[in-house]
Amino acid sequence: MKSGNISKYLRVSDILIVCAPPIDPFYQTPQRPAKVHQHLAKMSAPEDALGWLQLARTLAREAGDMVLAMRKLSPSSAAPALNLETKSASSDLVTSADRASQRHIFSGIKKQYPSHRLIGEEDATPYGMLDARPTWIVDAIDGTTNYIHDISEFSVSIAFVLNKTTQVGVVYAPKSGELYHAVVNRGSFCNDLRLSTSATTTLSRAIIISEWGYIRGAGRNVDKMVSANRELLARDVRGVRQLGSGCLDLCYVGHGRADGVYCGVAGEGWHVWDYAAGALVATEAGAEIRRLDGGPFDMTGDSMVCATAGVLAALVGAVRERF
Ligand code: IPD
Repeated sequence: MKSGNISKYLRVSDILIVCAPPIDPFYQTPQRPAKVHQHLAKMSAPEDALGWLQLARTLAREAGDMVLAMRKLSPSSAAPALNLETKSASSDLVTSADRASQRHIFSGIKKQYPSHRLIGEEDATPYGMLDARPTWIVDAIDGTTNYIHDISEFSVSIAFVLNKTTQVGVVYAPKSGELYHAVVNRGSFCNDLRLSTSATTTLSRAIIISEWGYIRGAGRNVDKMVSANRELLARDVRGVRQLGSGCLDLCYVGHGRADGVYCGVAGEGWHVWDYAAGALVATEAGAEIRRLDGGPFDMTGDSMVCATAGVLAALVGAVRERF
């Protein structure tokens, strides 16, 4: 059909106005506005996903805004009102805000889903107990050290997991007001704008994130972590970052702000609550996720590499020798 004839086949009511999605020129990431609730309501599959998502979003916002208000009452990093304590190591910290946030989230979940299981960082629940039953996995404040020091990168993370697979993940960063969410097979979003990973294909254009975890003191494990970072620099990586919140690291890969994140070169593997929601946000945006040895990712395992497809192999090549 010639273009001049198209009008013969169209009535005014057929015409759709198509708006191009806004493009962030720096990341070249298409941002598609999405009415996620309407979209989910139309889903034929797990109708329950809408309920899980709405609950997780509400509780993450409430808990995040509560801990932000608590932080404002304690202006210095000594933070006396926060009752700072250490856990597994001198750098593994917990505050009364972590505990209050987890209590709030757990009680909200119990009200709506009394039979579901709960795993939270502040219970030190052994997560070997993660099985096929419906389970909520909560990190009440991920990035507690940042929170204490009033550095913006901290978040509240809530995931709903069924058959050991995250169905819904929500990560809320109260300082920036960014709320990430993802539903399995339905995409991931930041403040309801659809996300996709960067198109980066070389380390020389990549931002890679790692975390030091709680390993301190001179020794082989510190050397291995430093040596992985050194190798990335030797391979001309654009930037290496330690942001201090594993959940946000994964969301930033999904957002296209970073191109990869890894852990587990020296026993600094994260915990199930660091991965459960953020890994879904990253992978639903197009990132790949594996164990560092190339095996299938397991959220109860001790290593992970999550990256945009274009840099995954180069990233693994650089850091893998260290563990
Ligand atoms: C920690 C942060 C940190 C990572 C640790 C996590 P927390 O979470 O995500 O960046 O290195 O492994 O446990 O303790 O602040 O909730």
